[in-house]
Amino acid sequence: PPLDEILNLHDFEAIARQVMPEKAWAYYSSAADDEITNRENHAAYHRIWFRPRVLRDVTKVDWSTTILGHKSSMPLYITATALGKLGHPEGEKILTKAAAKHGVIQMIPTLASCSFDELIDAAEPGQVQFFQLYVNKDRNVTKRLVQHAEKRGITGLFITVDAPQLGRREKDMRMKFEAEDPSEVKQTGAKGVDRSQGAARAISSFIDPGLNWNDLKWFKSITDMTLILKGVQCWEDALEAYDLNLAGVVLSNHGGRQLDFARSGIEVLVEVVEKLKEKRGVTFPNEKFQLFVDGGVRRATDILKAVALGATAVGVGRPFLYAYSSYGPEGMDKALQILHDEFEMNLRLLGAPTIKDVVPSMVDASNIHTH
Ligand code: FNR
Repeated sequence: PPLDEILNLHDFEAIARQVMPEKAWAYYSSAADDEITNRENHAAYHRIWFRPRVLRDVTKVDWSTTILGHKSSMPLYITATALGKLGHPEGEKILTKAAAKHGVIQMIPTLASCSFDELIDAAEPGQVQFFQLYVNKDRNVTKRLVQHAEKRGITGLFITVDAPQLGRREKDMRMKFEAEDPSEVKQTGAKGVDRSQGAARAISSFIDPGLNWNDLKWFKSITDMTLILKGVQCWEDALEAYDLNLAGVVLSNHGGRQLDFARSGIEVLVEVVEKLKEKRGVTFPNEKFQLFVDGGVRRATDILKAVALGATAVGVGRPFLYAYSSYGPEGMDKALQILHDEFEMNLRLLGAPTIKDVVPSMVDASNIHTH
């Protein structure tokens, strides 16, 4: 169907499933084991309801915000998703350009199909980009990567902590990924790897399962970039990150692609906010220690729920891959435009003229825990 018949982010997924190469669809859409967490990432949002306010002047509404000190036109960022060229020959560059056009921040993945420098060079002057880091067993490789990223102007380093080993994405494994072109992944030098396990496993054998809390001191010694942990899944680890003076955490289960039956990020957000207040007296949103959520976000209403509960912003992954895989750069452009439109309308209906006005009393999350 023509792009103007696309009404929401779900539509892109339905089209992508039909038009994408099977291998690419399998890699992008797959999740771990029985995909229960992936399903729960969506379901959890369905258990949160709004308590809108009325009779507030919502003639003008503004959904822009600040993420780790950087302006963003919406409380969302484009999260890191590997192998962007499986869906379109331009790969992650499409995301870089759309991010510039719409004033949002892109998180560049370690395992991008485009090289890191290509994605920096594709950015507009002054465009803010974050970097997602998979930590290599060879710390010299990681050190070089991190220091190069910093030199090239990256401000936020998101260290992925939920993937000491890649999860079993069986849909992807069944495709028995064969990289025709070993340069598909430029940065990691993933040579001589076992490609019989699907795309994900094939490219990830360099990741260090020995990564632990003591390594964070080392990261602080090699870079001045803002450090955020991506993939925190309970309040105890969020508290640990807080006590280490990190800049924040992403409450994420990697889009359901790692441990199946991990809880949704939005559910974890509720307990993190509660416990950090109880244990350290912190309230959210908070400039010094910011909470992010990702997984299953498909509507501005999902994002507004997370914001109301204390998140600074949320990450969106698959919808953008589906948008550009189906329609190229115009699809990605449309996806962001849809979200802008949804924010405008939903802020009005919520009675919140700005993001600051989206407060905890505007949601009822009392049924978020079902277990
Ligand atoms: C991911 N994700 C991910 N995360 C990460 O830290 N490094 C990576 O290389 C990747 N790669 C990746 C590939 C694909 C195809 C997907 C779908 C996801 C996880 C990603 O950053 C994020 O946590 C989820 O995608 C969020 O869920 P949604 O928005 O896709 O539902």
